[in-house]
Amino acid sequence: MRSRTRTGFGAVAAGLATVLLSTTASAAPAPGSAGVGDPYYPGAGNGGYDVAHYDIRLTYQPDTDRLAGTTTILATTTQELSSFNLDFGLDVRSVRVNNAPARFATDPADPSELVVTPARPLARGQFLAVVVTYADTPSQVEIGGVTAWKKTPDGALAVDEPQISEWWFPANDHPTDKATYDVSVEVPDDVAALSNGTLVRTSKQRAGWTRWNWRSTEPQATYLTLLAVGRFEVLRSTTPSGQPFVTAYDPALGPSLPAAKASIERTPEVVKALEEFFGPYPFEAQGGVASTGLGFALENQTRSVYGRGFFRAGTNMSVVAHENAHQWFGDSVSVGSWRDIWLNEGFASYAEFLWSEHVGEGTADELAEYLYNSYPADDAFWRVPPGDPGAENQFHVAVYDRGAMAVHALREAVGDEAFFRILRTWLETKKGGHGTIPEFVALAERLSGVDLDGLIRTWLYTPAKPAVSPNGHGAE
Ligand code: ARG
Ligand code: ZN
Repeated sequence: MRSRTRTGFGAVAAGLATVLLSTTASAAPAPGSAGVGDPYYPGAGNGGYDVAHYDIRLTYQPDTDRLAGTTTILATTTQELSSFNLDFGLDVRSVRVNNAPARFATDPADPSELVVTPARPLARGQFLAVVVTYADTPSQVEIGGVTAWKKTPDGALAVDEPQISEWWFPANDHPTDKATYDVSVEVPDDVAALSNGTLVRTSKQRAGWTRWNWRSTEPQATYLTLLAVGRFEVLRSTTPSGQPFVTAYDPALGPSLPAAKASIERTPEVVKALEEFFGPYPFEAQGGVASTGLGFALENQTRSVYGRGFFRAGTNMSVVAHENAHQWFGDSVSVGSWRDIWLNEGFASYAEFLWSEHVGEGTADELAEYLYNSYPADDAFWRVPPGDPGAENQFHVAVYDRGAMAVHALREAVGDEAFFRILRTWLETKKGGHGTIPEFVALAERLSGVDLDGLIRTWLYTPAKPAVSPNGHGAE
């Protein structure tokens, strides 16, 4: 309102309005910040609004890698805004804010920051509908020297961590702003388009094209939002627990395909086993996608994606346990900042031990001790502290292996009863949200009554091999 008055007064009154505004500076509309303050990724996310829902409606042509369509963002402002940012790298055609055309421009210093200036400043606590229309060739878009979009011979994968949404939908790209999703993607009839949650329907309005409509109804982080297009074999069934179970297999997996299927089709069994440790599965559907198009696996919400490498040597239940454990640790309870990555990878890696113990192939204690002894004290492995590995080492093997040892050291220190109570309380109280390592440690201390200061410092923050092994016995 104030700013509208200033415009109404015109140039003559501008000086007076500036004085009036400066006396009430704290309430004046200001640009939303270009990041949420993540210590590893300063540009990740944006300030000034909170997204509730993304409605992504696209057409994708694999032959040309042409992606075009509209994303509608439903949000609420958290401050008075003269402008706000979206994290997005594709070529934008138009932006509307609350049904009025808005100005938009890419920050010249950062091709992933789209600055949107609405016709009128926005009040705090105001409902915000942002409609962005765009068309581009994502495989040709580089941000900071990286193209995270993965083109495959017959399609593409929008699968990466910590950043992928920039290559396919405008967003507030940080795990602290989760939202629900509709993802509707039209592709040629000979390929499938997979995303998170439930397949609401497919439709075939245009000859030769099929539209796949997916819906994910629990809060979901931007990086966990999936698009996988390709000539997948899609299997649809219902889990014994009554949830939709959708899996997809890339025929190009060749000799790895049977092992991928034999592993990923056991997802409902893995989820059931993990429920015994972690409490109820937090989402409405299950699944998995096996693709030749990536060199890692990612815990996309309700439907993890697995690279072929995991199944080259045969079945691999460890990776299925790992990615599905992330549905609790990472997806339902997300990192408060990317520095908290141990809360994802340490616990997902520890779940591999729990699965092993569950199927009688070795106890968590044996596996943690084995890992501890397999890295000599002078190994560079011990120089990366899992509690603050740095952006460049976010997915270093130490975050996984030492991270899992740290979880076991915690279990040994507090005992099984307190340990599983800590995990379940954390997952229950933070469900659909996010948390930090200090918050987790505070909860663990409160519930166990054990002072964990030394243990956490030794296992998470010291760049050296702990003198005592994870079970507190086998000192070197
Ligand atoms: N969170 C994934 C996992 O541990 C790892 C993703 C690694 N990211 C990457 N770009 N390589 O399952
Ligand atoms: Zn992981």
